Parts: sequence; C-alpha cells; structure tokens
Amino acid sequence: MKKYGLIGYPVGHSYSQDFFQKKFKKLGLKDHSYDLFEMEFLNEFPALWLKNPTLQGVNVTVPHKEKVIQYLDKLDTSSIKVGAANVIHKQGGKLVGYNTDYMAFRESLEGWVGKFKGEALILGSGGASKAIQAALSDLNIPYNQVSRTSKGGDYTYDQLKSNPDILSRFMLIINTTPLGMFPNNDSLPDLPYKRLTKGCYLYDLIYNPDQTAFMKQGELNGAKTKNGLEMLELQAEKSWEIWSS
Ligand SMILES: NC(=O)c1ccc[n+]([C@@H]2O[C@H](COP(=O)([O-])OP(=O)(O)OC[C@H]3O[C@@H](n4cnc5c(N)ncnc54)[C@H](OP(=O)(O)O)[C@@H]3O)[C@@H](O)[C@H]2O)c1
Repeated sequence: MKKYGLIGYPVGHSYSQDFFQKKFKKLGLKDHSYDLFEMEFLNEFPALWLKNPTLQGVNVTVPHKEKVIQYLDKLDTSSIKVGAANVIHKQGGKLVGYNTDYMAFRESLEGWVGKFKGEALILGSGGASKAIQAALSDLNIPYNQVSRTSKGGDYTYDQLKSNPDILSRFMLIINTTPLGMFPNNDSLPDLPYKRLTKGCYLYDLIYNPDQTAFMKQGELNGAKTKNGLEMLELQAEKSWEIWSS
C-alpha cells in the first residue's frame, strides 16, 4: 500500500483528493490511496508519519505551509525560495519539502503573458503571496504589494483609493487574497478598477467560481483575466511528478 494525503485545517472540500483518486484510477494504481488528514496543530505532524508507515507524501494547505518547514529534514530550492512547503516527499526515510505553488504559478504566468515587460502588483501578503513573489523575482518582474495594513505591503487599499493613478502603473495584478471564493462570490479586492490600464493582465488565484468578481471588474475595464485553475492543476501534477520520481 502506498499512502498519500493532504494535511491542513480545515480540509473539508479538497480538490487534491478528487484529483489523486482519479489519477490513481486512471493509472491503475489500486494500491495507492489519498486521504484527508485534518490537523489543527502542527505538533501532531510527527505522529502522523509514525501512525502511517506507508505514507509516501503529503500536500500541505492552510495554515501549515510555512511552519511545517521546521519538521522537515531537507528543503528543495523551491521551498527555500518561498519559505514554505506545500508538498512533502518521504525519500529514504527523510522528509523533503517542495513548493509546487511557486513552480505552477511561474509556468502558468509565463505561458499566459510571455515575455512580460512592466510592473506587477500583488494583492495580499499570505502564504500564496510568497510563492508569487518568488516566481516574479525569478522572472525579473518588479512588483509591489498591497495589504490591508501598512506593515504588510507597499500600499494599503485605502492609499490606492485616495491615489487611484497608482493603479494605472501596473500591467499585471495578482489576487492572492481569498476574496471572491465560493460561497462569497460577490466579494472582491477594494480597488479603483476604473483606473486599470486597458490590456493589463489580472490573474486571480481563486478558481471557484470560474469568473470571480475581481475578474469581472477587470474585464469591464478592459483587462485580460485568468483564474487559478491552471495553477491548481499544475501544482497537483507537479506533486505527482515529485512523488513518482
Ligand atoms: N490556484 C491555486 O493553485 C492556489 C494556490 C494557493 C492558494 N490559492 C488561493 O489563494 C488564496 C490565499 O491563500 P493563502 O494560502 O495565501 O491564504 P492566507 O495565508 O490566509 O493569506 C491570504 C492573504 O490575503 C489577505 N486577506 C485575507 N483576508 C482578506 C480580506 N477579507 N480582505 C482583504 N485581504 C484579505 C491577507 O493579506 P493582508 O493581511 O496583507 O491584507 C492574507 O495574508 C486562497 O483562497 C487559496 O485558495 C490558490
């Protein structure tokens, strides 16, 4: 038996479990399973591996992607760059951390914008934001960050609203906040959308609904938009590449 799974809190609706159950079925891997391991506190992490000796790897989700690093034996460069791991692989008895959010966003963005010249604006300063920052740095795309608090970023939403010209500078805006995610479909980052530059790119990490309120406002004001589904699929595929290598 080869076990895989997802740790996080809560882990209610999991795209990963659906993805891997379908994948194992398609590949005829009857001795592979993918379970949800709800874990409120990370001090339960070592016991998970002791209780499940056939566990080969896990995905990590909110709120543990950053703090889980202290429990790992080795970090791949991707998780070092981001300072967080969303994939763990047990290799020769050692736990190795990777960050496939970063790898997936980088690949997806390059495929969408090509050789992008301009500045980017990242909305939010959480775990996903750190993966996006690492990818933009790799691609030599300068960026600023927006946060609800002045400590969290270069601008607050209030500053952008009182100086809306600032927004026109950015040709790429990435939403890494949870705003707009089902069932809160009507919520969106508080930006002066009318000041978007025509033809700019809005990338939303949210993938449900297909068209978020952020994307809708972008399109109404001449932006090109993309949701987070491709990134989600790519990060899952990359987890499998790591586990099956
Ligand atoms: N498509 C994908 O593959 C993919 C991958 C990873 C994550 N995601 C999605 O990205 C989202 C963020 O994930 P995460 O792990 O970064 O979560 P997180 O660590 O909780 O961070 C989200 C950040 O968003 C901002 N934020 C939170 N609530 C907000 C609110 N009510 N209004 C405005 N800003 C708010 C906060 O930044 P400030 O405090 O600085 O404002 C917070 O740090 C989630 O919805 C997740 O599902 C998608």
